[in-house]
Amino acid sequence: MKKKSSYILAIESSCDDTAAAVLKDNEVLSNCIANQEMHREYGGVVPELASRAHQANIIPVVQQALSIANIDKKELTAIAYTRGPGLMGSLLVGSSFAKSLSISLDIPLIDVNHMHGHLLCHFIKNDDKNLPKFPFIGVTISGGHTQLLLVEDYFEMTEIGTTLDDAIGEAFDKCGKKMGLNYPAGPEIDKLASEGDPSAFIFPIPKVKNLDVSFSGVKTAFINLLNNKISKNPDFIKNNLKDLCASIQKTLVKIIVQKIEKAQKSLKINSIVIGGGVAANSEIRKVLIDKSLTENWKVFLPQFQYTTDNAAMIGIVGYHKLKKNKLGGMNQSVNARLDF
Ligand code: KG4
Ligand code: ZN
Repeated sequence: MKKKSSYILAIESSCDDTAAAVLKDNEVLSNCIANQEMHREYGGVVPELASRAHQANIIPVVQQALSIANIDKKELTAIAYTRGPGLMGSLLVGSSFAKSLSISLDIPLIDVNHMHGHLLCHFIKNDDKNLPKFPFIGVTISGGHTQLLLVEDYFEMTEIGTTLDDAIGEAFDKCGKKMGLNYPAGPEIDKLASEGDPSAFIFPIPKVKNLDVSFSGVKTAFINLLNNKISKNPDFIKNNLKDLCASIQKTLVKIIVQKIEKAQKSLKINSIVIGGGVAANSEIRKVLIDKSLTENWKVFLPQFQYTTDNAAMIGIVGYHKLKKNKLGGMNQSVNARLDF
């Protein structure tokens, strides 16, 4: 007999995007996001404003996801939600909504680690692509995280390297802020860099032991360079914006790629699976695609729609947890610093 399909409603509200998706098993039927534009003028996410916006957005976004998927809520099999890591007030909105809906529909609740979502989005059904095989080296590069992981199964992950200070996305955003770019600056730096000279300015690559990384030294060197140059020429940023973007982007990407290379050599694992917002960056994509051609790496880059925060990635983790009967409890609280 053919197994009955599961329909999962997934909710993601860990930071400043309110997102909902519906999955039929491992296939995405809808993937909706309400972005919160008001953080731009503050140069970063304001937690209090984010929570309030989640409250306003969550019901319309869920309704939109159900409507695009053409599913009535009574047909749902389970609700998956992001338990952490993230901003406490933001997580509370999504989790409370998910719990209430799961009680009212009398269907299972599944708690999901946001970072599992960033990595396991590669298991979303995609007819054009092979799915990664275990074990692989997982690399999460986002605004809040920079981690290297040995991934042996869906939920068997060991951290093998992490950042000692800033996350890579945070370094992009802070350098961008110094250049007067809007938050989040990563995508804008990427765009401007495409017309700049990446060797115009040289920044130091930090010497960090093992598979850990550090971005704060480069960020400080970048800020010091700007302060120094602006004191002599107030138009320095304007006159050199594209070269500055290309140079800092190249350095930030080099720092993480060096560690991926080191991990690949020491673990002798050729499959590299990338996740998180910075996975949208064209330089890192180019460098890793080159590696897959020259060094026989099997590199998995997420589709653009699954790089930055989204609910489909929470849904795919929910699907695999449901299959293994790893359900969440009503008495589970959200966790801003949830580990892998
Ligand atoms: O995964 P994500 O949406 O949120 C977190 O979980 O942190 O990642 C957001 C981060 C921001 O720092 C943003 O600047 C960065 O991803 N980002 C990029 C690009 N697109 C997004 N950084 C560099 N180049 C990009 N194209
Ligand atoms: Zn994220």
